[in-house]
Amino acid sequence: MQTLLAPATTHLLEAAALLAAGDLVAFPTETVYGLGADARSRAAVEKIYAAKGRPSGNPVIVHLADPADAPTCVTTWPPLAEKLAQLFWPGPLTLILPRGPLLTDAVSAGRSTVALRCPNHPVAEALLRTCGFPIAAPSANRSGFTSPTTAQHVYAELAGRIPLILDGGPSTIGLESTVLDLTSKTPTILRPGAITQEMLQSAIGPVLTLHQFLAPSTSAISPGQHHRHYAPTTPAFSISRIDWSAHEEKIRTRSDKIILITYDPAIALPAPHEVLLLPPTAEKYAAALYASLRQADDLTASCILVLLPDNLEGMWAAVVDRLHRATIPFSIT
Ligand code: TXA
Ligand code: MG
Repeated sequence: MQTLLAPATTHLLEAAALLAAGDLVAFPTETVYGLGADARSRAAVEKIYAAKGRPSGNPVIVHLADPADAPTCVTTWPPLAEKLAQLFWPGPLTLILPRGPLLTDAVSAGRSTVALRCPNHPVAEALLRTCGFPIAAPSANRSGFTSPTTAQHVYAELAGRIPLILDGGPSTIGLESTVLDLTSKTPTILRPGAITQEMLQSAIGPVLTLHQFLAPSTSAISPGQHHRHYAPTTPAFSISRIDWSAHEEKIRTRSDKIILITYDPAIALPAPHEVLLLPPTAEKYAAALYASLRQADDLTASCILVLLPDNLEGMWAAVVDRLHRATIPFSIT
């Protein structure tokens, strides 16, 4: 299959027509690029799983043009959901609720619930409005790899597997949405994101965070779950500041090339190693992270070393969550 990478400005109608015909289209959102299909159609949603190589047990997020569409996709729309939608939609917050009959159960991968969000991106919104139906869209990457924040990232992973990628420039947030389960007794964050636990708690009271990391050794038994290594060709390790201080000399003098990803310009490495310096604030770091992981992979080194931020406040929690999933802890050998 030929994959067309085209500006969203000129190819919006073609994208809507492909989606209406049951085909896949990748499109930008403010978090990451999504791989879209008609969320009412089992056959269309099954194409997402095939194109991504996604395990069949991992459900996908359904995107809506307007918060007012949400009640049509669920069996109950509680006041708590209405409040959160009013405060945070359109935006990077996904709500888990009981799925309604409008949507194919393929979006839920065997569960009775559905994940809903209204994206805050002009192209995503225009596409949803033009289609007039909800669009199922996981991140537009091959399963287990890092989410794409540009149309070119999508092309690198999915060329030949989907007909069209709408280019709307880089995603501004750069990390996937916060996923909040509203079906549990206390609302529970299943995936941290730009809408932080602090923000949710000040809006609705107590909110829990599920810290669910599987050890790397168990990832083969539980595909699609959590601790997946980003780069198959370049091993990626995270290192705390304390471990950096303890092992800096040994790392500096290694003869094989290391790529260091750091937010602290004082932590550096001499040649032949290379340093990718990310911004020191959580929002800017998040926006640059996935592109820098890809860049590090392209620089062909023996390993990637990521300095772990020691701050967990605000959006740093989401950044550190993704770093733990993309890397394994550094250990000196
Ligand atoms: O920012 C985002 O959320 C992006 C853009 C494209 O909207 N989408 C995204 O989708 O990251 P995906 O499929 O890569 O991640 C969706 C997450 C997964 O961890 C999935 O397991 C969870 O949401 N999820 C989806 N439906 C669920 C459900 N019914 N119950 C529990 N978790 C669910
Ligand atoms: Mg994903």
